[in-house]
Amino acid sequence: MSEISAQLICSALGLGALLLYALYLPLVLLYKHYNSSFRDLPGPPSTSWLKGNFPEMQESENTIFYKKWANEYGPTMQFKVFFNMSRLYTADTKALNHILHNEYIYHKPRITQWSLGRLTGPGLFYVQGDKHKFQRRIISPAFSPGQLRGFSETFSEKAEELRDIWASQIEVDGNVAQVDALSWLSKMTLDVIGRTGFHYDFHALSPEGNANELNKALSIGFHAATRFSIWLMIQSVLPVTRWMPSSGSAQLRKAKKTMDRIGQELLQESKAQLMTSGKKLDTWRSKDLLSLLVRSNMNADIPYRQRMSDEDVLAQVPTFVFAGHDTISSGTAWSLYALSLHDSVQDSLRKELLRVPTERPTMEDLNSLPYLDAVVKETLRFHSPAPETARVAVKDDILPLNTPVTDKNGIVHREICIKKGQHLLLAISGVNLAKEIWGEDAMDFKTLVIQTP
Ligand code: HEM
Repeated sequence: MSEISAQLICSALGLGALLLYALYLPLVLLYKHYNSSFRDLPGPPSTSWLKGNFPEMQESENTIFYKKWANEYGPTMQFKVFFNMSRLYTADTKALNHILHNEYIYHKPRITQWSLGRLTGPGLFYVQGDKHKFQRRIISPAFSPGQLRGFSETFSEKAEELRDIWASQIEVDGNVAQVDALSWLSKMTLDVIGRTGFHYDFHALSPEGNANELNKALSIGFHAATRFSIWLMIQSVLPVTRWMPSSGSAQLRKAKKTMDRIGQELLQESKAQLMTSGKKLDTWRSKDLLSLLVRSNMNADIPYRQRMSDEDVLAQVPTFVFAGHDTISSGTAWSLYALSLHDSVQDSLRKELLRVPTERPTMEDLNSLPYLDAVVKETLRFHSPAPETARVAVKDDILPLNTPVTDKNGIVHREICIKKGQHLLLAISGVNLAKEIWGEDAMDFKTLVIQTP
């Protein structure tokens, strides 16, 4: 058979498979829709057969769940996604507890896992089941309070650097300057994660920062990896289609290559340092997260088959950046926003901070500031940087509920039947804004709960 006819047969087979799938998909969707155990649960009416409730959710930046729908339908409801398929939304604490304690039944959805995994590789966000458990065991010591204490110097140094940049901007502009706080805070947290995560300087706060190779690769890579499209959804559920290019896949590959190369260098440096400091723990000075986990990975208590490969260790570099960068910068930006709206809180906080006798507070100094602690906690409650997360059931299950839910036929459910393949939205903000937990004023930023110092 000539090469050309072999290619033709392959293409015809590929096209045939796609056509069959195109016919099969609507049948599966219809079947799932009419057999969904969520169908009769209360929830907002769908506004679009194609996009379900997504248009309203996008317009209202997702707060519609907590500010409107949760009031109307309670902590557990269904909402509609593409092709009007039902998804379960729950802020029920018993249900959330059950889901998060059963990681062998509830996995991260394939679309998030696969799309992000293309960039991070097998890091904590990607792996599931036993591998996730083993990685957690090795990584956890790096996040202990004792280890984090060592980072406070970097936190202060970078905060001061940003303060000076803003102060100089005020000097240039006169008495008042307008700055894009989120964008600057994002640069600052990138610098902090680089330094504390893997002893790397992004120089994001300095003028030449944007040209930094890893900084560029990460931002291009994350943008390409998290850009949602229908094609990405198909690729995530149909591995056979993954060889076909998608928008941004070339950029993603290039970014990953750069990240892998620089990550390898950082990993080799960490290993070399570990070799020179030997087993004498008191001489161990390299306290970035990567070095700490390299060391933890070599701990004699960890069985050999549970240890991480170099690829697994490397995958944690972009994982830490992804997990810790936007969360911290948006959380801090929300704190500034809340302070700008509540003068009395701003004044009280300033008073407490001015009593600290140093510009470089230690973790102990920071921990002895109750008002600061209350402001941070209230901001995280009210403006959660991660308002929700998602899971998919990989086995049938029964989901217990704290608050029973009455379906459209008047039947009261104290538990919900979950079928393999069903998706669930875990509402972190729903819990944070629940009146049953926080009282009638749960939907307000509670300045009074924060006691004046
Ligand atoms: C205010 C700041 C932060 C918030 C609100 C936050 C929130 C979250 C949430 C909700 C999850 C669970 C995601 C899921 O399982 O679906 C998570 C996981 C994770 N976060 Fe954070 N995070 C923050 C800061 C950080 C920082 C600074 C780092 C590291 C440098 C980090 C590293 C991680 C990692 C590695 C995971 C995965 C854990 C696992 O799968 O076992 N996070 N975070």
